[in-house]
Amino acid sequence: MATRHLLVLAGDGIGPEVTSAALRVLDNIVRRSGITVEVASGLIGGAAIDATGTPLPDETLAQVHKGSPVLLGAVGGPQWADGPRPEAGLLDLRRHMALWANLRPFEVFAGMQDQSPLKRPHGVKGLIIRELTGGAYFGEPRERGGEGDQGWALDTMIYHRYEIERIVRLGFHYAERMKAPLTSVDKANVLESSRLWRETVERVKRDFPMVPVVHRLVDAAAMDMVVHPEHFQVVVTENLFGDILSDLAGGLVGSLGLLGSSSVAGQPGTRGLFEPVHGSAPDIAGQGIANPVGALLSLASLMRWSWQDDASAGAVETAVKETLRSGVRTPDLGGSDSTASMTEAVIKQLNR
Ligand code: NAD
Ligand code: IPM
Ligand code: MN
Repeated sequence: MATRHLLVLAGDGIGPEVTSAALRVLDNIVRRSGITVEVASGLIGGAAIDATGTPLPDETLAQVHKGSPVLLGAVGGPQWADGPRPEAGLLDLRRHMALWANLRPFEVFAGMQDQSPLKRPHGVKGLIIRELTGGAYFGEPRERGGEGDQGWALDTMIYHRYEIERIVRLGFHYAERMKAPLTSVDKANVLESSRLWRETVERVKRDFPMVPVVHRLVDAAAMDMVVHPEHFQVVVTENLFGDILSDLAGGLVGSLGLLGSSSVAGQPGTRGLFEPVHGSAPDIAGQGIANPVGALLSLASLMRWSWQDDASAGAVETAVKETLRSGVRTPDLGGSDSTASMTEAVIKQLNR
């Protein structure tokens, strides 16, 4: 069997803690299935700034350009508030890899109902499809000027039609496949870029006559996601709104630490960047109590998307779900398990 490749960029805070957990699980899969995996690692974020002065060093980019899928932990932390930002490394990486689509599934897993703030958490499950390389995150110009009271800051929220069209089309494909309506979230009552977004959805819709489409304004959508999460089975939205709504989804399912994601371009079978939705969690970093599930589910997504190994991906997902169902919980889930003990429990499930 051909050797598979993986590049791990652990980053900062709990990033190294959760990617180590994922590598332990990968190691177990490798032993059981006889597949061969070559794991490389590199620097990103604050760790890279400390070592090289920049959040995405050339050495890391050279590794990325070899073409393997990337498993990322998290970047950022209060110690890098001045000077270059760790987050810029992650954004540059997404741009360099041209990963325009970010898939962020959320689900209230069996056994997690009491962790969800919802009164009726049963069956809550959805997918947020977030545009990842456009909008206010990357728009130019971005500038500061003036002084004192006259000081100003400028960000640019810009979308080209082709950028909207490809992500919306992906949204329609998922909605079609999942036999669900497509919920498009924008702010078309205020933003010109959202009006282009909505027009584009209306155009692409003609190619998917079987998929019902609902347009929602982002403010009301945020409210309704809490009250009627079942209206949000497949959501497509621009970069910033998708960032915000996916953390909201983390709240709905009981912890941000439960969400994994895939940042991809184009088709399965290609590389991508697989990252938990959560950040570096400076408030709990170094304590060994981070929930590893977001990283484990990101690893499973990598196996499915880039390696097209449904068996390994499914095994990891099932083991994670069974572990949660059995009552193993890190503190964010109201328990007292550590990252290590939860990871061991997942491995035990894999070996059953
Ligand atoms: P955060 O996601 O790091 O943490 C928010 C809250 O959720 C914290 O209370 C944290 O303890 C908790 N949490 C998050 N992940 C958890 C896990 N796996 N297990 C248990 N609890 C978990 O958001 P923040 O505090 O706003 O940001 C901290 C830093 O992370 C910032 O520098 C931010 O820019 C960065 N960040 C990075 C990424 C990324 O690398 N993909 C994503 C989001 C935020
Ligand atoms: C995320 C993070 C990033 C984003 C930051 C760290 C740049 O919040 O992946 O959700 O805003 O995209
Ligand atoms: Mn975010």
